[in-house]
Amino acid sequence: MDESRVNILGLGFYVPRPVLRNSDLEKMVETSDEWIISRTGIQERRIVEPGQACSDLALEATQMALSQAFLTPKDITHILFATFTPDFNNPTTACVLQNKLGMVNCSMAMDIGAGCSGFIYGLDTIRGLTAIYPDANILLVGGEVCTSRLNFQDRNTCVLFGDGAGAAIISGKDFGQHKPRVIDSMVRTDGSLGHLLPVGQEGGSALPYEFGQRVTEDFYIQMNGRELFRHAVRGMASMSQNILEKNELSIHDIDLYIPHQANLRIIEALAKKMDYPMEKVYVNVDRFGNTSAASVIIALSEAYSHGYIAPGYKVLLVSFGAGLTWGVALLQF
Ligand code: ACO
Repeated sequence: MDESRVNILGLGFYVPRPVLRNSDLEKMVETSDEWIISRTGIQERRIVEPGQACSDLALEATQMALSQAFLTPKDITHILFATFTPDFNNPTTACVLQNKLGMVNCSMAMDIGAGCSGFIYGLDTIRGLTAIYPDANILLVGGEVCTSRLNFQDRNTCVLFGDGAGAAIISGKDFGQHKPRVIDSMVRTDGSLGHLLPVGQEGGSALPYEFGQRVTEDFYIQMNGRELFRHAVRGMASMSQNILEKNELSIHDIDLYIPHQANLRIIEALAKKMDYPMEKVYVNVDRFGNTSAASVIIALSEAYSHGYIAPGYKVLLVSFGAGLTWGVALLQF
């Protein structure tokens, strides 16, 4: 077990106000509320207001995390921003957020591209950063405007995703008192499965746009849902088992299990495979859909602020995403 301190000082989340219900999607594509609920568990999702960017959602989530941590932007030294829907290619959304926060002491601001596993990749990175900079106060954000990459004429994808952001303030300082902390984390990558969830291949350096070329449907999220489903359940279960074994724990030592919120059926299949009761699995996919890199941190922050996590709880986060990528993190509250 890793005894180095990776303290969680504050958590925050924000979802935009506009609600997109299944009944709204019925008017856009050939689908039905019944199909969406039975295949995904999603009833509604939040979507940005016109003009709201990924960094704007992150700013709101960060302010909640800062106030929970009793810190101000001037106390933050590093920003890691997990997203696949950045404000721009450059500057990074971490840099945009730094500027919006009016931060003066920032030594590092960078984006992390690991699809829906981005937040857990961030936690894993921070375990290394806090070893080098134990006095750092690191802001880790998972934020997405998935709707900016959704083709609202493609029923295979447009019913699944939503927008939102979550934030955590993490420090390696020794506070001399018990604080929620990251005990361990693990990540995994298999680039040979990248074709299962491509987004915007055209326009990248492998397929650069020619002058005047128009954006095609390649710009939007595409996916092989059935194959992803299989890899999601298998990968999240094996990652969960690996971290539990490494820390000499059983799944029944976990008080709250927070999987990536992609699809209720994936979550239920994971719980079944892990022989873990659904009552102790946190679910908000019904209200927010899949918010990609924001998904597990929104769920963690929401669960914490709504009182579902008590002192002494062990919480297990697990995710999978484009890449393909997987990640798992064990937290002690
Ligand atoms: N409304 C009605 N019918 C639909 C819709 C829709 N919105 N979408 C697809 N269908 C149709 C399909 O066209 C197909 O029709 P066909 O049989 O005539 O070809 C039929 O429904 C059944 O399709 P399936 O693929 O069998 O449906 P499935 O039960 O697998 O559910 C789903 C599809 C929801 C996409 C599921 O496979 C899934 O959730 N996969 C994982 C997706 C995921 O997690 N993606 C994100 C991963 S990473 C990240 O989070 C970025």
